Amino acid sequence: MSPRPLIVDCDPGQDDAVALLLAFAAREEFDILGITAVAGNVPLALTESNARRIRDLVGRPEVPVYAGCPRPMVRKPVTAERIHGATGLDGAGLPEPVHPVGQAHAVDFLVETLLAAPEPVTLATLGPLTNVALAIVKNPAILANLREVVTMGGAAGAGNVTASAEFNIFADPHAAHVVFEAGAPLIMIGLDVTHQAIATPPRLEAIRALGTAPAAAVCGMLDVYSAKTMAAYCHGAPLHDPCVIAYLLQPDLFAGREMRVDIDIGSGPCFGRTVCDWRGRSGKPANARVLESINADGFFALLTDHLARLPAGSA
Ligand code: BDR
Ligand code: CA
Repeated sequence: MSPRPLIVDCDPGQDDAVALLLAFAAREEFDILGITAVAGNVPLALTESNARRIRDLVGRPEVPVYAGCPRPMVRKPVTAERIHGATGLDGAGLPEPVHPVGQAHAVDFLVETLLAAPEPVTLATLGPLTNVALAIVKNPAILANLREVVTMGGAAGAGNVTASAEFNIFADPHAAHVVFEAGAPLIMIGLDVTHQAIATPPRLEAIRALGTAPAAAVCGMLDVYSAKTMAAYCHGAPLHDPCVIAYLLQPDLFAGREMRVDIDIGSGPCFGRTVCDWRGRSGKPANARVLESINADGFFALLTDHLARLPAGSA
């Protein structure tokens, strides 16, 4: 099988960085057309340069990185330094990027690449959906060339920023509304799943034992991220964004159901909530496949096995 064309939209972020490394490691499975950065965990200037630091780590300068939207569509910007540190990649120990950012705006790259693609493209989204929503608004014809959108965002249960809302949706609910209403095949991987993918000490040690530069960067980042997530709200370090790439590589690690998901863009306590209609009460047609569970041991085996394929560098 030829590699699947893939675009990754992201806001690195330590867990985004691990997701990018997993995607880079899957050379036979993915043809990465580009990486688009959006403001999210940290401001855009950092998310785009962090994406380039990861690209340098794996020696893949031919994969373009584009900077996108520096703020959400309507709401005031929110960031997550509390979880990811001031740089977004605290703990990685990586130098400033060497290779430059792409000249195009990420939204233009998305539109032009999707319109010109000879076969449908998969879009993995790991951050707020601002770039993707703007691309859809700019030219809805791109929808015909999207094979599927696999998005880390939302929660059927509790949120992680508010009682109701998960960060990526909360950071730009209006963009999420556009994407969830667009009609593209959509897979939602929310906190219900990602909080099952915890980087426990034994799982981290298995990665550290690889002894490579990418493994050292992953463990350095996740050591910091674990401490911060545990101090903030969780019982360990949830690897949210790598679940998206793992789903593309091995969907049988996950289980889920088709249903209606509406984004709450009202001003109440549920602002930014993904309202998952498990019981079909709305009578509206399904617009997403919502994943519910993950085989966490299988996920960490996949991640560790793929990280071992990256160039060792000097750890
Ligand atoms: C999501 O928010 C960010 O902090 C993470 O990178 C992930 O994409 C989890 O809520
Ligand atoms: Ca992210």
